[in-house]
Amino acid sequence: MTAVCDAPLDPIVYLNRELVPLSEARVPVLDRGFIFGDGIYEVAPLYAHAGGRTPFRFAHHLARLARSLEKIGIVNPFDAAGWRALIERVVAANEADGGLRVDQNAIAYVQVTRGVAKRGHAFPAGIQPTVFVMVSPLNLPGAAQRAQGVRCVSAEDRRWLNCDIKSVSLLGNVLMAQYAAENDAFETIQFRDGLLTEGSSSNVWVVKDGALFAPPRSQKILEGIRYGLIEELTQECGIRFEAREIAEAELRAADEILVSSATKELLPVTQLDGRPVGHDGKPGAVFAALYAAYQRAKAKEALEAQQGVNSEFRERIIA
Ligand code: PDD
Repeated sequence: MTAVCDAPLDPIVYLNRELVPLSEARVPVLDRGFIFGDGIYEVAPLYAHAGGRTPFRFAHHLARLARSLEKIGIVNPFDAAGWRALIERVVAANEADGGLRVDQNAIAYVQVTRGVAKRGHAFPAGIQPTVFVMVSPLNLPGAAQRAQGVRCVSAEDRRWLNCDIKSVSLLGNVLMAQYAAENDAFETIQFRDGLLTEGSSSNVWVVKDGALFAPPRSQKILEGIRYGLIEELTQECGIRFEAREIAEAELRAADEILVSSATKELLPVTQLDGRPVGHDGKPGAVFAALYAAYQRAKAKEALEAQQGVNSEFRERIIA
């Protein structure tokens, strides 16, 4: 699922203490991100609204970034305020440069690798992490795509068993995204040992008899920031939610299937492996209720930012 459209050709990015045009940003070939995929990343939406631009569920994104770093033994180069300030700098630079309009939704991409060292698998001592931040315009799926839903294919999950780390080692996910692309599908939904895991870059949700189900949080999936959000939204909407293992047959017999990610928010899956989902292959009532609740959650965070509830954040990001 590629997310970023209408991106300026040469945005200003942050790389190791410097703001530079993307075309001039360079990392040495011995960077362990290049040589080993030894690094992590984070992708967080920044929504534009009347009062400016507000990052959505940002504290959760920063907490997951900190968790990913900790799990692979890289010292977090910034605290939460430092990350916020850094992203604000990149946003401001791109607004000043004309690459990002104030009324555009944006996506912040953050990557930290272990750094540059002579090639050798184990962690080298005394190196500085490589830090990269890029902010791009975000084009969310439109009303037509939501009304129509998306087609998905399925495949066996052959990735490693540390999928809870948001690692840049994404070859397994890349192959699954390519499988979807080759089959004219939006996403590949994966099964491990006959149980649902997730998409190549999204979490997957199943609706049966009005209740919502998702695979439990574990090392077999990346816990999306939307995972906790949607769990909260089910309470607001009075929808029963259960996190439990979901057999392949249950997915195929679902009334509705949904996918979620930072760049797609929430989308209905209306076809799986060429067959309609549910009785009519149309987006269902649970999708409609949760999508509306998602938009209300965005509006609430925007309003809070305008009213200064997250004032530290607002000043830094929107000033
Ligand atoms: N991917 N699972 C995987 C494997 C993902 O790559 C993603 C997101 C998710 C959903 O997480 P969240 O709700 O926090 O976006 C689940 C991002 C968008 C990406 O790689 O670009």
